[in-house]
Amino acid sequence: MSKIKVMIADDIEETRNVIKKILSMEKENFEITGEASNGEEVLKLIPEYKPDVVLMDINMPIMNGLEATEKITEAFPSVIVIIMSVQAKSEYLKKAMFCGAKEYIIKPFNYNDLIDTITATYEKQKERAIYSKTYEELGSNGKVISFYSSKGGVGKSVLSINSAITLSKTFKKKTLLLDLDLQYGDISMLANQHNDKTILDIIDDGQLASYSSIRPYLYEHNKKLDILFAPYNPEKAEYISKDAIEKMVSIFKKHYEFIVIDTGINFNDSTLNILDTSDLVLFIANMEMTTLRDTKLGLSVMETLNYDSNKVKVVVNSVTGKYGLSKKDVQDVFAEQLFSMIPEDIKNVRLSVNRGLPLCDNNKNRTLKIVKAIQTMCQEVVRCL
Ligand SMILES: Nc1ncnc2c1ncn2[C@@H]1O[C@H](COP(=O)(O)OP(=O)(O)O)[C@@H](O)[C@H]1O
Ligand SMILES: [Mg+2]
Repeated sequence: MSKIKVMIADDIEETRNVIKKILSMEKENFEITGEASNGEEVLKLIPEYKPDVVLMDINMPIMNGLEATEKITEAFPSVIVIIMSVQAKSEYLKKAMFCGAKEYIIKPFNYNDLIDTITATYEKQKERAIYSKTYEELGSNGKVISFYSSKGGVGKSVLSINSAITLSKTFKKKTLLLDLDLQYGDISMLANQHNDKTILDIIDDGQLASYSSIRPYLYEHNKKLDILFAPYNPEKAEYISKDAIEKMVSIFKKHYEFIVIDTGINFNDSTLNILDTSDLVLFIANMEMTTLRDTKLGLSVMETLNYDSNKVKVVVNSVTGKYGLSKKDVQDVFAEQLFSMIPEDIKNVRLSVNRGLPLCDNNKNRTLKIVKAIQTMCQEVVRCL
C-alpha cells in the first residue's frame, strides 16, 4: 500500500508537533507533506504538496477551517478534509460536513483516534472514488424502479426494501432506496433507523445542489445500498416539491445502477412525475377482490396516460390459495402484465417488520419461499432493464 500523504493545518504549533510525532511513529503508512497555520496557506500549498488528506483545525486566523474546507472541496475535490475541533457540538460539525469535510475528530485525540480516523476515512473515500469513476466511465444511467399500489397495506414497503437489499447484496448492484411515500414513509422503521436525516432535511438545509451535498443525508445500509428516508411527520409532505424530487432522482441516476422507489398511493402530480421517469413500475396487488379491481383500474389509468405496457407490471403479493382465489385466477386477470407472485408468509414477514430486520438481510431466511420469490423477481428486474 502506498503511503497516505497528510497535510496539517493548525495555528497552534504544539498541536502540529503532536500530530507529526504520532504520524512519524507510523512512517511506513503516512507521509507528512507539509503544514500550514491558516486556511489561506493550506490552499496555496495544496498544488505543491498534493496531499491525500488535510487535517484541518476549525478555528484559525486569516481564513478559518470551514471556509478553507469549502474552497478545497471546490478546487481540489479529490483531497480529503478531516476537521479537528475542540467542540463536539453537532451543529458545528454538521456545518463542517456541509462545507465538504469527510470526517471530524475531536481534540484532544489520542494516537489510535488519529491513526484510525485518517485510515478509515481515506479507505472509504478511495472506495467511493473507484465506484464513481467506474460509473462515470461507463456513462452509467441508473434505472428507476417504482413500487406503486392503489391501496395501503398491500406490501409496497416490505417489497421495496427487500428488493433493494436483494439487488445490492445478491446481485451486487449499487442501489439507492428512496422512500417517497411522503405521508406514511415506513422504510426507516423497516430498516430500524429512527433518528436519521430525511429528504425534508435536504430541502430545509438547501442542499439539493449536487450528489456530494446530498450524500450526508443518506443512510448506508450496506456497502452497495444507500437509503433516503421520508419525513417522520405526514404534514411535512407538502414541503417536498415535485421539482426537488426530480432534481434528486436525476442526480441519483448518475451515481447508482438502480434507484428503487417506494411511492405514495395517490395519482398526484408528484407520484405521476415519478411514474413518468421510472423505467419499470411494479404495481403491487394482493389477493383480495377489491385490490384486484383497483389495480385493474389503476392499470387502465396508466394506459390512458400512454405508459408502455412493457414498463408497467403487476406483482401480486401475499399469494395463497386459502381465501377463495387461486393463482390461476390472478394469472387470468393480468395475463402478460403479471410480473411476479410473492407468497404469503405472515409469520416471517411480521417478525421481520417488528424486529426492524428485513427478511432478505438475514442469511438464515435464504431458504424461505418468500425470499426466493423476491430473488427471482429481482433477477427478472435485472434482466429486463
Ligand atoms: N408476503 C406477505 N405475506 C404476509 N404478510 C405480508 C406480506 N407482505 C406484506 N405483509 C404484511 O402487510 C403489512 C403491510 O405491508 P407494507 O409493506 O407496510 O404495505 P404498504 O407499504 O403497501 O402499505 C406488513 O406489515 C405485513 O404484515
Ligand atoms: Mg408503505
